Amino acid sequence: MKTHGGRVFIVTGGSSGCGYETAKAVYNLNSRVYIAGRSAQKAEEAIRKIKFEPAAPHPAVKGGRGEIVFLRLDLHDLDTVKASAAEFLSKESSLDVVWHNAGLGGAPFGRKTVQGFETHLGVNALGPFLFQHFLTPICLATAARSGAKPGYSRGDLNLHELGSIKGAMAKYPQSKAMVVMFAHEFARRFAVHGLLSLSLHPGSVKSNFQSNQPALVKWLTSPLLYEQHYGGLTLLFAGFADVVDTKMLEQGGKNGSYVEPWGV
Ligand SMILES: NC(=O)c1ccc[n+]([C@@H]2O[C@H](COP(=O)([O-])OP(=O)(O)OC[C@H]3O[C@@H](n4cnc5c(N)ncnc54)[C@H](OP(=O)(O)O)[C@@H]3O)[C@@H](O)[C@H]2O)c1
Repeated sequence: MKTHGGRVFIVTGGSSGCGYETAKAVYNLNSRVYIAGRSAQKAEEAIRKIKFEPAAPHPAVKGGRGEIVFLRLDLHDLDTVKASAAEFLSKESSLDVVWHNAGLGGAPFGRKTVQGFETHLGVNALGPFLFQHFLTPICLATAARSGAKPGYSRGDLNLHELGSIKGAMAKYPQSKAMVVMFAHEFARRFAVHGLLSLSLHPGSVKSNFQSNQPALVKWLTSPLLYEQHYGGLTLLFAGFADVVDTKMLEQGGKNGSYVEPWGV
């Protein structure tokens, strides 16, 4: 595997689950990775574990040693997001990949963010949108310095279905549909400056994500879930695979895509 020393990355929600696995892999590629989350304690525990654990379950995968830094980020409170971005910007002059991975599902009905948005919408879609807004200039500057080639995006989204989703799990998919649209629109605006923007499904993996699910659902779905270490694969594919990095942009039309597990 190529190393990525000297490059800078952010993984939101990097203290657990898919984000943890992604941060761990990036650390082992000798890069500087920021774990952005709301709990310093959870992040410190994750950082200790990442440094201590083998790089991957297979012994043939050699570990590296990068840097991991905690960045406070609470997507539940939009008023705090600018300060988090400012903290990052005060320390770094480049940003190679940001994974807007933090998210939740199954939050109790009626729960709202500090600004009064429905929780899934606020945490999964609006918070990341705002965080990215403050990070976009550094992404553009990084792309300009690296000589990333201009890319193209095209395609339409069918919005007809979006408003009609009903049922107990209605809000989660709506928030994620917004994430898909955001990735697509971001690519439409910034592909010409060499930025690549993808949305993705990390796979159905065992993580804290199931913590809000009813016991019966947990019991029924648990045998169908992959082990947590699979959870970083699709994020890493989107962030690093050569086919994503070069071929997609050169061929045009794929920036803004939705990536399926395990990197399709
Ligand atoms: N696991 C799956 O099967 C699955 C399937 C499809 C999509 N996904 C998506 O994959 C992403 C990662 O999920 P996961 O499976 O790794 O679940 P996870 O273990 O619960 O991780 C979610 C992360 O998001 C963070 N987070 C939650 N609310 C936040 C907030 N207000 N501000 C900042 N960070 C916050 C959590 O931090 P705290 O520890 O502080 O809560 C945690 O680190 C999510 O976007 C999820 O929707 C997962």
